[in-house]
Amino acid sequence: MDFNYTEEQLAVRDAARDFAQQVLKPGVIERDTHMKYPKEEVRQMAELGFLGMMAPPEYGGGGMDTISYVLAMEEISKVDNSCSVIMSVNNSLVNWGLEKYGNEEQKQKYLSKLATGEWIGAFCLSEPEAGSDATSQRTTAVDMGDHYLLNGTKNWITNGGSSQVHLVIAQTNPEKGHKGINAFIVETSWDGVVIGNKEDKLGIRSSDTHTIMYNDVKVPKENRIGDDGFGFTFAMKTLAGGRIGIAAQALGIAQGAFELATQYAQERTAFGQALFKHQSIAFKLADMATDIESARMLIHKAAWHKDQHMNYDHSSSIAKYFAAEMAMKHTVEAVQIFGGYGYVKEYHVERLMRDAKITQIYEGTSEIQQIVISRNVIKGQLYS
Ligand code: CAA
Repeated sequence: MDFNYTEEQLAVRDAARDFAQQVLKPGVIERDTHMKYPKEEVRQMAELGFLGMMAPPEYGGGGMDTISYVLAMEEISKVDNSCSVIMSVNNSLVNWGLEKYGNEEQKQKYLSKLATGEWIGAFCLSEPEAGSDATSQRTTAVDMGDHYLLNGTKNWITNGGSSQVHLVIAQTNPEKGHKGINAFIVETSWDGVVIGNKEDKLGIRSSDTHTIMYNDVKVPKENRIGDDGFGFTFAMKTLAGGRIGIAAQALGIAQGAFELATQYAQERTAFGQALFKHQSIAFKLADMATDIESARMLIHKAAWHKDQHMNYDHSSSIAKYFAAEMAMKHTVEAVQIFGGYGYVKEYHVERLMRDAKITQIYEGTSEIQQIVISRNVIKGQLYS
């Protein structure tokens, strides 16, 4: 077993760290306060290759492994989680879904634009009444011969207003249940695609989260992904990779809060000595360090499973579950270490605490991960 990173992986991590600290950090509080979409920052992320890290070079991607991707995600998430969720959705859900399951024409037409960041993608599964319960899709795609007619509403769509391409999950044959679901590539410029208002959120406030309405949208037959009825499997398989990215986001949030709290605990004195010399603070820092390292190991193991083409449904859910819970717990502790300063925006930890919450919710809540993990344990389907 080799725990060393390659030179290439370390170079990617360092480039992401420099970008996050130099480019993202200066404006992050202002963007968060005013819910300002990081347009220029996303453009620079595209230029640096962060929006298509794992996509094959022949489609304009970086051809990197998943370990490099999670290292970069961690660095960017230490600073700006609106940028890291944009990056995660584009890489893990949209690019990977197309790379793995799209046909050659679809890859040429769409992946090549998405992997370079020329276009941004969104993954449209959640609905007003089907978030966790993903088989209950109400959005319909009726087969009209040469095209499908798409109708329905999707909720909580990351990149909803800033994307050119949506991967939309819809019910085509209701009588077949989840086996009647399909996934479609939809261009946002098409007639009938209506972008609702941007959500005013607790965290990841500058990311672009919208409700989307599809009103009689004509989707060409060639834009269905995979065989008829493949859509639910497509969503589940794609989300397993997405969960590795969100786990890395949670890890970055916790690591960012930990670094800030560690620095503060050395600079600030109370009762005649530095905070970290008080056992109550030292023990918190020790627990943070231990849990963060544990999360990193789980995430890198899941990423390694993916790179080895092994089944990572189980390891990605374990990594996401642990990392999200850990990030929430320890960002609260980081704010506690800062005391009153932690409660004001200037010190960054309150934002990281707000951002941590979403990692327990999107791409499958913690409770969904518990369902997936426990079912895999019962079935004995772990890492085959
Ligand atoms: N791979 C392949 N097939 C799978 C699968 C997987 N990982 N998981 C389930 N399936 C198959 C099952 O085998 C079953 O098929 P058969 O009937 O042929 O055996 C079928 O799918 C239905 O599975 P279940 O009976 O297990 O379905 P369920 O209704 O009990 O729920 C669930 C399964 C795991 C809870 C699923 O609904 C789920 O993951 N829900 C969460 C959805 C989610 O993550 N939403 C997040 C939205 S995306 C987002 O947040 C993006 C963003 O913008 C940030």
